[in-house]
Amino acid sequence: MCRLAFLSSRITVHSLRSTSVRAPLENCSRSSSKAKAMSALSRQLSQSSIKDSSPVQQRKTIVDNPVPQLPPGASSPRDNPVLLDVAPNTNKYRTPSDKLVLILVGLPARGKTFIARKICRYLEFFHAASVRVFNIGNYRRELHGPHHDAAWFDPANPVGLKQRKAATDAALSDLRKWVAEANDGRVAILDGTHSTLAKRQYAIQTLKSLEVKIIMIESVCTDKDTVERNIRHCKLGTPDYVGIPVDEATRDFRARVAAYESTYETIDAPSTNGVEKNRSWIKIVDCRRFVINNVRGFLPSRLIQFLSHLHMEPHAFYLSRHGQSEYNVLGKIGGDSGLSPLGDAYAKALARFCRDEVTKGEKGERPARLWTSTLRRTRETARYISHHSITIDYDQDDVDHAQEWVQLRPVAWSNLDELFAGVCDGMTYEEIEKHYPDEFRRRQNDKLAYRYPRGESYLDMIHRLDQMVFEMDRHREPLLIVAHQGILRLLYAYLMDMPREEAPYVSIPLNTVIKLEPKVYGCDEERFELLRKCPNPDGQKETRLKKSESVDDDPLFRDDDPPSH
Ligand code: F6P
Repeated sequence: MCRLAFLSSRITVHSLRSTSVRAPLENCSRSSSKAKAMSALSRQLSQSSIKDSSPVQQRKTIVDNPVPQLPPGASSPRDNPVLLDVAPNTNKYRTPSDKLVLILVGLPARGKTFIARKICRYLEFFHAASVRVFNIGNYRRELHGPHHDAAWFDPANPVGLKQRKAATDAALSDLRKWVAEANDGRVAILDGTHSTLAKRQYAIQTLKSLEVKIIMIESVCTDKDTVERNIRHCKLGTPDYVGIPVDEATRDFRARVAAYESTYETIDAPSTNGVEKNRSWIKIVDCRRFVINNVRGFLPSRLIQFLSHLHMEPHAFYLSRHGQSEYNVLGKIGGDSGLSPLGDAYAKALARFCRDEVTKGEKGERPARLWTSTLRRTRETARYISHHSITIDYDQDDVDHAQEWVQLRPVAWSNLDELFAGVCDGMTYEEIEKHYPDEFRRRQNDKLAYRYPRGESYLDMIHRLDQMVFEMDRHREPLLIVAHQGILRLLYAYLMDMPREEAPYVSIPLNTVIKLEPKVYGCDEERFELLRKCPNPDGQKETRLKKSESVDDDPLFRDDDPPSH
């Protein structure tokens, strides 16, 4: 198979949803024995009634569903619905101390803006928190223009000093206003260097009357290569250096860093005389060592966990749905069926894709990871992927010797299982509309929050992905995730900075791998279509509500309904 045949140009997408699509890898081929098995299953599915009295079959549904999906994490059918223990999103009884201000601390090119944006995304998407980043650099550019050489940042330059303070004051003033006025404003992030005790004291003093919780987050980076990479990949692309030759810009930025270094005081440095001993702060050293000081509470604890998994090395996620399943052929949702012949062809194409793209590094084969859900169709999709051993030579400080690595070792997560459709599992959308017209309509009205009776909603899935994203973020190797439409929509929306409300409508086609590479602002995206297009491969003909219809017409929703929790 010639890899070059499907190479296409790369496009960069910063939170935009345009994509590049690669040409097909091969024609889809159908094996005749598989086709027979499929039609037998179709016959069985359309003719049989539930006769079997095995535990799985006891969970009777109103349509035939011989291979039901179990609730996520369950080993046998249960009668209790999936729990939703997400805190209610209400601010009625909030006190000021429910609000958080995070003050970033660190020399330039230490990944502060990356950290600020990652925190913002994580808290917005997984905890529905209203978060706003106040970037002092942006205020500086707005107030004084983008171009200032290193001398302007020298602490001994009185003009630069005065103008930079004006930028800090403007950011602080907007931040104060937002925290005080935006009722749902939950977390404000002040993104700047705050490179001395005096500057940190000034910010804290200015925010004192807000009575918010303040946590400082310092990023310390001792690794010269990482700093150089940050300068080249992030800083030179900012408006500060537009139109300036790369070498000159790099030289100037290094001088700017040196200017800050001359007076830099790390949090709780001996020179600070213990002033910061009792403050709340998190110090991140080289994304490997962490010092946590006086940080407590639900959101701050989630933050600690999130930050302790973060790193700034370049890495890629490959997202793929399973190949076409037997239930896809029948237009049924959910279930735990195996692959159709077309699905099997995709599994083979995916194995080749792993060899030619996922594990292909600049200097030969690179180690890569593979996750699937626990459902049969994703495990079967990964079944042709090679799991040979390779030797890798880590020179990172915690792993300093050559290691044996099982290439793309399959790890199955129930967190990645498809949206559980409860009593509708195994139905077609038409059947759902026929048997549960009100449910069908409610889902159309609010797809994100709608929970299938005895099943799950997209919000439930967000909840079970919350833990998983830490794992996703922590790895440095490329990670291939073979999962399902619903769950991948959420991962995609999270990584691409999309609002949660849009997530249930993201297009995640079958037979396609989506490559996402996180950058400071969003992700670069590339799509690889591994099989030639075939019409409606997942049999989905879900009808959407007409514009004129709305939830107000729904007799099940009334104004006097008690608020749901
Ligand atoms: O049809 C494939 C499928 O993965 C179903 O199992 C699942 O219920 C559905 O997609 C999720 O998509 P939607 O939320 O649009 O119904």
